[in-house]
Amino acid sequence: RAVAILISGTGSNMLRLVESMQGADHPARPVLVLSNRPEAKGLKHAAALGVPTAVVDHRGRPKPEFEAEMDAALRDAGAEILCLAGFMRVLSADFIARWEGRILNIHPSLLPLFKGLDTHARAIASGMAVHGATVHEVIADLDAGPILGQAVVPILPDDTPDTLAARLLPAEHRLYPEALRRFAAGNRARFALL
Ligand code: GRF
Repeated sequence: RAVAILISGTGSNMLRLVESMQGADHPARPVLVLSNRPEAKGLKHAAALGVPTAVVDHRGRPKPEFEAEMDAALRDAGAEILCLAGFMRVLSADFIARWEGRILNIHPSLLPLFKGLDTHARAIASGMAVHGATVHEVIADLDAGPILGQAVVPILPDDTPDTLAARLLPAEHRLYPEALRRFAAGNRARFALL
């Protein structure tokens, strides 16, 4: 299966997905890394791994036009599955409908808790002892699609949003490649990394 990865920034999750697909015996291959920000650091890293890259800037134009250009770039690349990896634009219901059942996202919380932004601060404020990340299918409802996999980390007494995010990121890096490997092989059963 041909996979396109959508980023807006660092792209560390994207890199883990690419490295995993470039390893032996994987049901998917990376065909495009697309960023909505030209300055996204991940673009250079993707190119260094030999993956084609594209920029579709969202700024200063209507959303339907931005999404139509993205859609065209993704189809030109032959993408069959889209992985959102730190992609910071909310996709419209129209765009999602065109890729129905073929978009994955990683969200830095144990969904259905803490949809939206500032998840690490909200997890700390909740008083919970664990935090985590979720890979889910994307539906028009934000952060609400079927859960594919979740990874869990402890919340420690002195955590700040930054220390908690730093503890979670390596768990995300294990979770997303595993979720994509299963999804690309047609396996949508939920799994947990504890
Ligand atoms: C990750 O924490 C991801 O869960 C969130 O944004 C961050 C992206 O980091 N949606 P990176 O760009 O993959 O390094």
